[in-house]
Amino acid sequence: MTQTDFTHWANQQQLHIEQVLTQRLPKAGTAPLRLHDAMRYAVLGGGKRVRPLLVYASGAICNAQPAAMDVAAVAVELIHAYSLVHDDLPCMDNDVMRRGKPTVHVEYDEATALLVGDGLQTLAFELLSGELGIGGKAQLAMLHALAQASGSHGMVGGQAIDLASVGQALSLPELEQMHIRKTGALIRAAITLGRLCGNTLSDEHSAKLDHFAKCIGLAFQVVDDVLDAEASSATLGKTAGKDAANDKPTYVSLMGLKQARQLAQELEADALASLAIFGDKAQRLSQLAQFIVSRSF
Ligand code: IPE
Ligand code: IPE
Ligand code: MG
Ligand code: MG
Ligand code: MG
Repeated sequence: MTQTDFTHWANQQQLHIEQVLTQRLPKAGTAPLRLHDAMRYAVLGGGKRVRPLLVYASGAICNAQPAAMDVAAVAVELIHAYSLVHDDLPCMDNDVMRRGKPTVHVEYDEATALLVGDGLQTLAFELLSGELGIGGKAQLAMLHALAQASGSHGMVGGQAIDLASVGQALSLPELEQMHIRKTGALIRAAITLGRLCGNTLSDEHSAKLDHFAKCIGLAFQVVDDVLDAEASSATLGKTAGKDAANDKPTYVSLMGLKQARQLAQELEADALASLAIFGDKAQRLSQLAQFIVSRSF
């Protein structure tokens, strides 16, 4: 499939997920007005929607149920959006721009931003525990995977390590652990959730898919580090150069730009190799992996 074909597919899916998110978020005009308004502000009208795209691409390898994938995609994106709102708070990265707009605490206030995160996180689990039309066992596995990826052994744990690492010189294995948790875990969960919406895979196939997910989850944050050092705020829609300004250890500070880019490409190659077993069915996953590593925003 061509690049044009991938771009068309991604655009279609992005429009679709925007609609589903709009439907599933609390409606504008419902009380408490300011909180619900801020929740919609945090989620709608921005972002690459990489995690929902990964849910759909992963589901495509096992004939997943579209309606269940929609809920899984929404749940993962809500957790991601909540993590961004909290990540930007003055007590964390203290950023004023996100997805090309003022951050939630700037547009509203800090307490609202805190509550927006709480509200988005709980909404994710409320939706994922509703009627999905798939087997109960698979649904429980989805809930478990998302909770684990979001919590203190996953994203939240990674964020704690990130904050504790300011001004520290981490070793490469330590940095890898931080990135695997703070960003990799949720990316990996998106792929697991997509798979759980479809036919059960063999152990061998599941292991290959999970290896892909781990590699691409880490690669995502390596590229995020590179872009923070290399791209402009206008391109990123968030403040560039913040890692250096905040004295955060990153792949760029540890190994330099060129080596970090090289590592992302090695992780991509490793990820792509483990998709071979799926043949054409993994086309979208493979294209997404290439997008994640070669993106400029
Ligand atoms: C940014 O994620 C934060 C990280 C976890 C690295 P994205 O680059 O996916 O941000 P959006 O969703 O496109 O805004
Ligand atoms: C974000 O890492 C990880 C999250 C869990 C949100 P960063 O702090 O590098 O993300 P950006 O660069 O602000 O998007
Ligand atoms: Mg951060
Ligand atoms: Mg940040
Ligand atoms: Mg960053």
